[in-house]
Amino acid sequence: MTNSREIAAQILTEIHSSYHFFENSITNNKDFSRLDSRDKAFVRFIILNTLRRNGQIQEIITTFIKKPLKKNNNFILNLIRISICQILFLNVREYSAVNTAVEISKKYNLDKFVNALLRNICRHKIEIMKKTRTEINIPKWIKNDILKSFGKKKLHEIAKSIVDEPATDIKIKRRYHKQENWEEILNGRFIHNQVIRLNNDGPIDKKPFFKEGFWWVQSLSATIPVNIISSMFKKSKKNNISVLEIGAAPGGKTFQLIEEGFQVTSLEISQRRTRRLKENLKRLNYKTNILNKDILNFKSNKLFDCILIDAPCTASGLIRKKPEILIMDKSVNLEKLVIKQRKILEKSVSLVKKGGYILYCVCSIHSKEGPKLIEGFLRKNNNFEFVLLDSEHAKLGEIFKGMLQLFPDNEKFKDGLDGFFIAALKKK
Ligand SMILES: C[S@@+](CC[C@H](N)C(=O)[O-])C[C@H]1O[C@@H](n2cnc3c(N)ncnc32)[C@H](O)[C@@H]1O
Repeated sequence: MTNSREIAAQILTEIHSSYHFFENSITNNKDFSRLDSRDKAFVRFIILNTLRRNGQIQEIITTFIKKPLKKNNNFILNLIRISICQILFLNVREYSAVNTAVEISKKYNLDKFVNALLRNICRHKIEIMKKTRTEINIPKWIKNDILKSFGKKKLHEIAKSIVDEPATDIKIKRRYHKQENWEEILNGRFIHNQVIRLNNDGPIDKKPFFKEGFWWVQSLSATIPVNIISSMFKKSKKNNISVLEIGAAPGGKTFQLIEEGFQVTSLEISQRRTRRLKENLKRLNYKTNILNKDILNFKSNKLFDCILIDAPCTASGLIRKKPEILIMDKSVNLEKLVIKQRKILEKSVSLVKKGGYILYCVCSIHSKEGPKLIEGFLRKNNNFEFVLLDSEHAKLGEIFKGMLQLFPDNEKFKDGLDGFFIAALKKK
């Protein structure tokens, strides 16, 4: 049977060579599917942490390997990456990490090389740990933007926070919120309204009352846009208020809008993701009007009171949960996404009533997808103005020129938050 560390190195090789997302690479690996749940958790743990520390590990490899490995030795390179991660950053016994890596590399006739390299790193552990800096894990396309927009200290804080395991938040349906002792049942603690932060302990869909649809997975940051919409319409009868959500799957914000009692239309371009949205709605016993369409080709006779744009983005705010983003150069992709975000915003102008609102959000901390995009939009559309966010929402993050930015290193919450950007605009 293939060793779990060997499987971890195979999957990491696939992620590095094809820039595949972690979850896709892990589901495509047949050996992984045969592991028991403990080994699966171990493989996930070492790959995700190796990706989070990619910059630091790469720097150590460059220092300790004078002659670069041949291209066809990609598997060995990734075996070395996961071994360095275990030796330096995870609480794994050195001899176990080294011996297993040496054993695996025998098949490639590189056992002596791997043995010498890893033992050398073990000997220099203290010096390496004194010198290494987490800032190096953040790729240039994000790093330069953080430095320019928020400065060195912020970069340091973000870099420090993203090497930690991220938290999983879930949102309990309001009607069941007070009915059970949720903190005990789900092993977590309430961090804000109906949101519980779980102590990560096992598969989410096996947790109590998941199948019954009493709750869904949604990070605290991702709940804020709909909370803002609710407070904008707090004086209105919600079932008279029409909300169009653009980019609705897998559905967290749609579920909140339904729970609040709005008239909801959920629009989503992807067929696969629309199927997921429908499955989730069925589990939660919720109904909405679903349109599987590209918003840019969407025609409507009806205008909406509010448009919620949850735009496709680089997901730079989720680098802790999706650390494979750290090894991707998304600078080209970023420019394309910004064009798409701008087009979606401009399309929304024709779909919202006078006096109505556009709530724009992205799970990104890159200024081009957030403040710069909105400032550009407002320069061209002087019939729109900022809505002042009420203090309860504003205090969860940081307000820049009327827009809300949440960072992974959020001080108000132990274990931080997902990075998110939110702007609320009103059509005059
Ligand atoms: C950030 S995700 C949405 C997350 C979702 N709102 C939630 O709360 O679960 C962005 C979504 O926008 C969708 N999307 C991208 N381009 C689109 C377009 N032109 N029209 C409609 N949906 C689009 C993507 O397929 C993706 O599902």
